[in-house]
Amino acid sequence: MNVHSGQTDLSGQVALVTGGAGGMGRVITAELVRAGAHVVITTRDGERGEALRREVGADRVEVLTGDLSVRRDLHRFAAEFSRRHDRLHLLINNAGAHYRDRRLTADGVEAHLAVNHLAGFTLTYLLHDRLQAAAPSRVVNVVSATMSDTRTVPLLGRPRPVSLDLAGVTDLRELNPVEGFAPFTAYARAKLLSTICGYVFADRWHDEGVTVNAVHPGLVSTSIVDDITPAALRPFRSVIHSRLLTPEAGAAAALRLATDPGLSTVTGRYYVRDKEERSPSVSYDPATRAKAWRLSADWAAPEG
Ligand SMILES: NC(=O)c1ccc[n+]([C@@H]2O[C@H](COP(=O)([O-])OP(=O)(O)OC[C@H]3O[C@@H](n4cnc5c(N)ncnc54)[C@H](OP(=O)(O)O)[C@@H]3O)[C@@H](O)[C@H]2O)c1
Repeated sequence: MNVHSGQTDLSGQVALVTGGAGGMGRVITAELVRAGAHVVITTRDGERGEALRREVGADRVEVLTGDLSVRRDLHRFAAEFSRRHDRLHLLINNAGAHYRDRRLTADGVEAHLAVNHLAGFTLTYLLHDRLQAAAPSRVVNVVSATMSDTRTVPLLGRPRPVSLDLAGVTDLRELNPVEGFAPFTAYARAKLLSTICGYVFADRWHDEGVTVNAVHPGLVSTSIVDDITPAALRPFRSVIHSRLLTPEAGAAAALRLATDPGLSTVTGRYYVRDKEERSPSVSYDPATRAKAWRLSADWAAPEG
């Protein structure tokens, strides 16, 4: 799958793709460039970013190098983007990570939460004026169906949606604590928060022509799968990867949400590949939505 089956002309449009040099992000970047867009990517690896830039079109790709888990880098990314571009037509919050242990970022935030939720939230929040200026514009959050089922081996029993109780939480650094920590659950909770806050952005920006949707790309053969696979299954790595979608097939889901003309006004939805689905029931609770957004905005907002 490519950008809306090759029909869409994105000439004159500016896109920002986080994690745009690896895995599915790399495919998304190449496809958007092929359709005529100017694409800004973020990566921690400047050399990888430069190599991709030379490969897909040196004058059509810009590379921002930094770490999405670091709040200061997020503010720098937003400032650099805004300095170079007046408008942002497509923001694809694609980057994500799964860690095998609990770790804190330089800002004291649990790392799954930082990379999978706060990075996308902060860029969306800080680049609102650029999205607004480009309207109709779109934000796509790449999330994961793990939020609806946190069983690592989903063979027995019923799906187990991730829990989220924000009552009494005053700071996002309190989430995913040491007690009872499980990486897969922490990852799923971060994706759930990304989805929930996307719904709030969609509501807030409904009349501005800025759409915000979330998508699970399917199970895709990229490096994150190696980080998620339980130790007992790692000897079967090549068999597992052979059963998964290619990065091209996986990237098609986000590309569709970003470019399909038929979806230009669709907002506040969650898709599993190209099928609209319900996210976990807690994501429809107004109090949880409001609290999740406020806590995230308190973290994302510039100080002072
Ligand atoms: N693969 C699947 O089966 C699957 C399923 C559901 C959802 N997803 C989601 O799909 C998205 C794309 O993942 P993928 O499958 O393409 O995995 P991937 O190959 O591991 O790519 C992840 C991307 O995230 C970026 N990233 C991770 N941590 C970062 C950090 N601290 N700072 C900056 N960038 C960071 C990486 O960029 P650099 O290394 O260049 O910095 C990389 O390009 C993720 O949000 C993932 O959670 C994947």
